[in-house]
Amino acid sequence: MSAPWPALLLVALAASPACALAQGLAAFRVSGDAIAAPLDGKVGDAARGRAIVANRQLGLCLLCHTAPIAEERFQGDLAPNLAGAGARWNAGQLRLRLVDPQRLVPGSLMPAYHRTDGLQQVGAAWRGKPLLDAQQIEDVVAWLLTLKE
Ligand code: HEC
Repeated sequence: MSAPWPALLLVALAASPACALAQGLAAFRVSGDAIAAPLDGKVGDAARGRAIVANRQLGLCLLCHTAPIAEERFQGDLAPNLAGAGARWNAGQLRLRLVDPQRLVPGSLMPAYHRTDGLQQVGAAWRGKPLLDAQQIEDVVAWLLTLKE
């Protein structure tokens, strides 16, 4: 369970000079349990989103979730199966669940993928940077929306 985190730290360190331009947080408005508008107006790409979810250094989703990504073994069972997520939730609901899950489930295990304030125990390499940028959030939302069953 702990192994991917040091790997992620190394990736973040290696990438940090190049990422300097992309570190901003998108402004967004929460209404109800959703963020209705795409972050920064980005258009998501479902194929890229799938790759982010499958990636053990980037998304880390499979540490906790099982998802319909057959080639990835050893998926997680700490969280709901992502199969059917696109039938249970609309784009805005999925967006808020990625950006800031603690708004919906205080104390949620799930990382806030696009928030930097109020986080505990954030490694130096991540301070001030979201785990996923606006485009990556939209890519993951686009893929989750394809999971209708
Ligand atoms: C450390 C564990 C963890 C990681 C990593 C994680 N999640 Fe979650 N996720 C959860 C938990 C636990 C829930 C159940 C609700 C809650 O407690 O927030 C959840 C809920 C969700 C939901 C709503 C599930 C439903 O259909 O009811 C979605 C969608 C989701 N996560 C997507 C993702 C994606 C995509 C990633 C990777 C970018 C990810 N999660 C990473 C723990 C995690």
